[in-house]
Amino acid sequence: MYSEEFKASLAAVEAARDNNIALEPARMTAQQKEDLLAAYHPDYKKDEFAELKIGPNKGEKVPTELAQTLQAHSRISSDSVDLENPDYDVDVLIIGGGGAGTSAAIEAHEAGANVMIVTKLRVGDANTMMAEGGIQAADKPNDSPAIHFVDAFGGGHFAAKRELLSKLVCDAPEAIQWLSNLGVEFDKEEDGTMVTTHGGGTSRKRMHAAKDYSGAEIMRTLRDEVMNRQIPIVDFTSAIELILDENGNAAGAVLMNMETKDLLVAKAKTVIIATGGAGRMHYQGFPTSNHYGATADGLVLGYRAGAKLLYAETLQYHPTGAAYPEQIFGALVTEKVRSLGAKLVNSKGEVFMHPLETRDVAAASIIRECSTRENGVDTGNGQGVWLDTPMIEKIGGEGTIEKRIPAMMRMFAKYGIDIRKEPILVYPTLHYQNGGLDITPDGMTTNVKNLFVAGEAVGGIHGRNRLMGNSLLDIIVFGRGAGISAAAAAKEANVGKLTLKHVDAFEAEIKAAGIETEEVSPKLLPNYTKQKNI
Ligand code: FUM
Repeated sequence: MYSEEFKASLAAVEAARDNNIALEPARMTAQQKEDLLAAYHPDYKKDEFAELKIGPNKGEKVPTELAQTLQAHSRISSDSVDLENPDYDVDVLIIGGGGAGTSAAIEAHEAGANVMIVTKLRVGDANTMMAEGGIQAADKPNDSPAIHFVDAFGGGHFAAKRELLSKLVCDAPEAIQWLSNLGVEFDKEEDGTMVTTHGGGTSRKRMHAAKDYSGAEIMRTLRDEVMNRQIPIVDFTSAIELILDENGNAAGAVLMNMETKDLLVAKAKTVIIATGGAGRMHYQGFPTSNHYGATADGLVLGYRAGAKLLYAETLQYHPTGAAYPEQIFGALVTEKVRSLGAKLVNSKGEVFMHPLETRDVAAASIIRECSTRENGVDTGNGQGVWLDTPMIEKIGGEGTIEKRIPAMMRMFAKYGIDIRKEPILVYPTLHYQNGGLDITPDGMTTNVKNLFVAGEAVGGIHGRNRLMGNSLLDIIVFGRGAGISAAAAAKEANVGKLTLKHVDAFEAEIKAAGIETEEVSPKLLPNYTKQKNI
């Protein structure tokens, strides 16, 4: 039952709607953004970060929960695994069955490599499947990769590794074509050209979408292609440590059957980490839009094997996670809702920011509004602000919501909320890990040979903040790239004697640094119980 205060706020939003539609809120200046972020963005809360005491990034700060998992004990010791008789022996081992892993598998297979995917759940159980709004590519006459670069570089606070971002934007048009040829049904105009829209921080309309289930459509297609090619998949099996050879090169992984906990050994000439993100780490207690398996596993595997992290201290809090009803707390409300014209409004019915500021700025603005009781709306489960969805129909005409964002409509309709008629309540949700393992443009880690990374486990492509639609893009561009490079490197690789000495060495470092912990990692799945290390 809605409280009187809640009803009064809803009435204020409705009363202000016509006026708010016509409003053109000013964009913030660079200084205003910096001040806002410093005051309200979770990445700037110093006491939520801890210094790494061991490993390649020793001395750097990362979220406290990530520090704990990076500096936790391994699930194995070197003497508990028989490396002499591998269960699998392949050219390219791909860890992860989301968009990046499957794209890599398709290209490595195309290059003639003997490929295997190992995934702790099933192929397609990944953040890719849950992506909604779209995928960017500068393929319209008024746009170019250079303009795409400028948008993304600025949006990422000029911190992206230029060579990675350059590859991302230059390969984007071809990525769309590749997906289209594989069978992805992008939204099209009557004349067959692709429908493209804006996202936060884009100066051109370059978001290609399949309504508001773009990721599901892409994942469906990639999974079909992997199946059609009969690429071997070992599912419900997680990688729990990388194996190196005596020369320090990546040479496989120790696998664990998720049900029986039996250990298996996969030997490989090259390895690709494509394990996705970390939303289920619930940094700073935030809810998440992420898949159940998003527990930063790839960062742990890579770090213990000596690979460097880049920007692991920066996370993306998507501004519009569902804040009400409680059953969908933290679920993604796609940015496309704002692209289509819905504005963010506080409890008094006031528009408090331009709807298409970049995500970090939008999230910080919402947190600022909710930090005062007068401007935030009490959801019964925390605070939120309004996202005035009925504006979409007023601007685009009746039927726009059903046509362009049907999944959003259905998600809220399940709880009796008709987003065509009522605004919805939103609050930032943990969405994306901006940081990850440091790579060169061919996808290889900067300091472990034959270890490749693709997708959300990579750091540095987007800098310190990512624009909407550049993640679906990076899983394709860098997934494909890693597959091609790993297949080529496999042809040259001479794998030496397999070893897990690095696991023992890391354990010794934990001890020497005086770290006292009972935690084991990788986490593999979130633990919502009170039991330890399950
Ligand atoms: O808002 C969204 O649809 C999310 C897109 C993204 O993270 O790229």
